[in-house]
Amino acid sequence: MDKLLIQGNQSLSGSVKISGAKNSVLPMLCASVMSSKGSVELENVPHLHDVTTTTRLLTQMGVRVTMDEFMKISLDANDIHNLYAPYDLVKTMRSSILVLGPLLTRFGEAKVSLPGGCAIGMRPVDMHLEALEKMGAEIKVESGYIHAKSKRLKGANIIFATKSVTGTENIIMAATLADGTTKIENAANEPEIIDLCEFLKKMGAKISGHGTDTVEIEGVASLCGASHNPLPDRIEAGTFMVAAAITRGDIEINNIIPAHSQAVIDKLTEAGADITSMNNSVRVKMNKRPSAINIETNAYPHFPTDMQAQITALNTLAKGESFVKENIFENRFMHIQELQRMGAKITVKENIAHITGKDKLYGAPVMATDLRASASLILAGLAAEGITEIGRVYHIDRGYDCIEEKLQLIGARISRKPM
Ligand code: EPU
Repeated sequence: MDKLLIQGNQSLSGSVKISGAKNSVLPMLCASVMSSKGSVELENVPHLHDVTTTTRLLTQMGVRVTMDEFMKISLDANDIHNLYAPYDLVKTMRSSILVLGPLLTRFGEAKVSLPGGCAIGMRPVDMHLEALEKMGAEIKVESGYIHAKSKRLKGANIIFATKSVTGTENIIMAATLADGTTKIENAANEPEIIDLCEFLKKMGAKISGHGTDTVEIEGVASLCGASHNPLPDRIEAGTFMVAAAITRGDIEINNIIPAHSQAVIDKLTEAGADITSMNNSVRVKMNKRPSAINIETNAYPHFPTDMQAQITALNTLAKGESFVKENIFENRFMHIQELQRMGAKITVKENIAHITGKDKLYGAPVMATDLRASASLILAGLAAEGITEIGRVYHIDRGYDCIEEKLQLIGARISRKPM
């Protein structure tokens, strides 16, 4: 397994271009199975392991997938013959559950492995399954697999107990081909969900209210191919904003929608960063030690859980004491013991981490445990004295496009050591 080596204590400056959003592209790839007329084309697809795993999953179902040198992916779902998502592929990537709604609504049948627990928490899919049952599906869970069957799904009123991003996406997709109207209350309203809905509308779906708590979908008889350019990745953008703040650097982050990162921009401003937002970019400058900031994660537009680990890393070097409260996932503090190996002073009680900022962190061998935990270790390593060696970097490759190349271009001394 490869390792990342970082020679820290280097201020980063320059500009970086943000890639397409992982969490927009993955549901769109899954939505492609619903087109019975023509190919789906996605442009500006990030070069990520999760994208490769999803295209492998679709290919084994019979989707014809082609990709050009500009990362434009074309998916033709005319000859799907296998309505099955095997454990081997689903276990590495929980978003594979997003093939369930599309397969079931188009073909009346699907067998999808249960994703199981993961490093950041249990992450059940009970709300996905209950909603599909309410739409008329017969669902059995046997030997680790979800077996779902139905004649044409029926529109229904779904009230989610908790906001769920992929839950909302799965039911929106299932409802596009259902008979009648589906209303989802307490729907999640992340920008990636709006992006998915805009894409589904291009495929012929009838959706309104996306981006609010109540989404309505009027089922149509069939969907067709469409072209779409997914949103830029607001979590990749936020990670580079923290890179500027933690290394006391000056980075222009291009190809983004600043409004989607407002919660992160507000917190970094509170930490003392000088941030200028333009139409499609943000410049983050930090010329002093950051001040400690308290954060609490919550559904969009509140502070994203996917930026919690990165801000925790920033707070370890900030002036003063802070708390970080994780409200979405019950076990998303795996990066903390690794940050402690680098000298961070953090204590955790239940879902709250209390951090006392230190003057310095020191490079150490550390282990990436999940995607955003890896990002926080890279950030800590960039600011630390000495060399940080990060193991299990496959986690970072799941969700950050060319991370070391992008960091090298703005002055980071980071390299990959093949094992
Ligand atoms: N939940 C349930 N039952 C369900 C579904 C969710 O109890 O049936 C709970 C979860 O356990 C969690 C909460 O609801 O406590 C919210 O989870 P959600 O379903 O929103 O998470 P997700 O859809 O599995 C997506 C992103 C995650 C991101 C979360 C929260 C994708 C592919 N994944 O996950 O992204 O952290 O929303 O914003 O969109 C990442 O990119 O690193 C990542 C983990």
